[in-house]
Amino acid sequence: MPDLTISPVLILDFGSQLTQNIARRIREMEIYSEILPATLPTQDIRDRNPLALILSGGPSSVYEKGAPTLDPSLLEMGIPVLGICYGMQIIAHVTGGNVERAKVREYGVHLFSPSPKATTLWDAFRPASPVLMSHGDWIQDLPKGFNVSGSTETTPIAAMEDPAKKIYGVQFHPEVTQTAAGVDFLRHFLRDVCRIAPNWTIRGYLDRHIEEIRETVKKDHLVCALSGGIDSTVTALLCHRALGERFHAIFVDNGLLRQGELDTLQTDLATLNIPLDVVEAENIFLTRLKGVSDPEKKRKIIGKTFIDVFSREARKRGTIRYLAQGTLYPDVIESVSSFGGPSTVIKSHHNVGGLPSRMPFKLVEPLRELFKDEVRRLGRELGLSDRFVNRQPFPGPGLAIRILGSITPERLSIIRKADAVVRDEIEKSPFKSDLWQYFAVLLPVKSVGVMGDARTYENVVAIRSVRSVDGMTADVHYLSPELLGQMSHRIIASVEGVNRVVFDISPKPPATIEWE
Ligand code: XMP
Repeated sequence: MPDLTISPVLILDFGSQLTQNIARRIREMEIYSEILPATLPTQDIRDRNPLALILSGGPSSVYEKGAPTLDPSLLEMGIPVLGICYGMQIIAHVTGGNVERAKVREYGVHLFSPSPKATTLWDAFRPASPVLMSHGDWIQDLPKGFNVSGSTETTPIAAMEDPAKKIYGVQFHPEVTQTAAGVDFLRHFLRDVCRIAPNWTIRGYLDRHIEEIRETVKKDHLVCALSGGIDSTVTALLCHRALGERFHAIFVDNGLLRQGELDTLQTDLATLNIPLDVVEAENIFLTRLKGVSDPEKKRKIIGKTFIDVFSREARKRGTIRYLAQGTLYPDVIESVSSFGGPSTVIKSHHNVGGLPSRMPFKLVEPLRELFKDEVRRLGRELGLSDRFVNRQPFPGPGLAIRILGSITPERLSIIRKADAVVRDEIEKSPFKSDLWQYFAVLLPVKSVGVMGDARTYENVVAIRSVRSVDGMTADVHYLSPELLGQMSHRIIASVEGVNRVVFDISPKPPATIEWE
């Protein structure tokens, strides 16, 4: 649910994979922003009373039939507007400019120089500043009232502005790190042009959401799906603080956990004084997953089984109407294409897309507007220790999405043991805190090996180790050859059924962090 007490900077999503980065950059400036689909009716956009509009990039061409468009009246609301890539082209298109297929298309980093006559908004850029470009169209002719604010070596109109109406456009992407001065530029735009003061803090978020949970749940009870990860634990703490004894934490042991996970969780929660009920549900999960190899099917089955087990457990505890989940903003956007907008669906996240539409609970999702690093900050604000807060994330569907192909007790045992070796080796290393995630994946292929003079035909395990700020993008963390060698040696020697270990060197994008 959006926060209706603060006027947002509204980001209209035209389908770019980078739209969330825009929201992140703005929130890092402690300014509240929301993403809405560009296809939303104009009145709904106006009703949110935005302080400024940002139009995202997108994969379409403005002149194509069916391409998402912009109601020109949104440019007459008297609030500043910034169009990024497709966003700039759609402004030009609906105000009488001319957008065509670019004579020279630009993909990757190019050098941008502001025009001598550009306004001070462009002061963030020195001549020949690196900017990320990704476009096949360009603006051939400016609409009336606009000036060129900058160009690259190959794109004459790489930025434009109508300072009187406070409408601006950039062909490049200021929201990514490859555009070195991008954050400065966005800050100039929001602080100096839009005159927005910081209006969003974690403390304020906490207070508002505790209040909101109380108002939503009223005198009812709420049950929380605790997995022991940071998201569900912060959700639980927040709900526990709001509701006290009317809060119930249930941990479903789905049989897809890592080695030692439940023990650690129980110890940690005991120190936080959160009462926890553990429900053994391994059988039902493994039975329903039997023979299933399709990743989306696995996710959906796990989501549904979770709810089935919860309904049963909740019924045992009397009438509980509410279920709290640690759904995060990226889960929401990746699963439902920014509330029905055009962004492409990547995976049905366990917390959202995998849930059946008819559920016996009303959902409470107090982290729905947050990115992962913001959840960590909230966790600290709620008194969680650094040891807890800095744990690596573990996905809702657990080891099921790290076993490619079908899931059997034998394959679960293999991945558990191999993963325990990976974790043990990395946790002994000094760079552990630099990593976002590190784990093992069991591949659906066998390969030939030789052990003790005999031919083997056994499983392959992949090691993944990545750095990331919010899970939206990730870089490979190249482990040293010595460490990789040590892991490979230990896995092959101690995990029966594995004769080969490989290292995954794919960043996100184009890969995702999890293999399924
Ligand atoms: P991907 O694989 O999409 O993962 O690059 C991004 C981050 O999300 C985690 N992840 C999940 N978390 N439920 C979760 O709670 C899920 O279904 C899920 N799938 C992926 C993943 O571990 C990574 O940190």
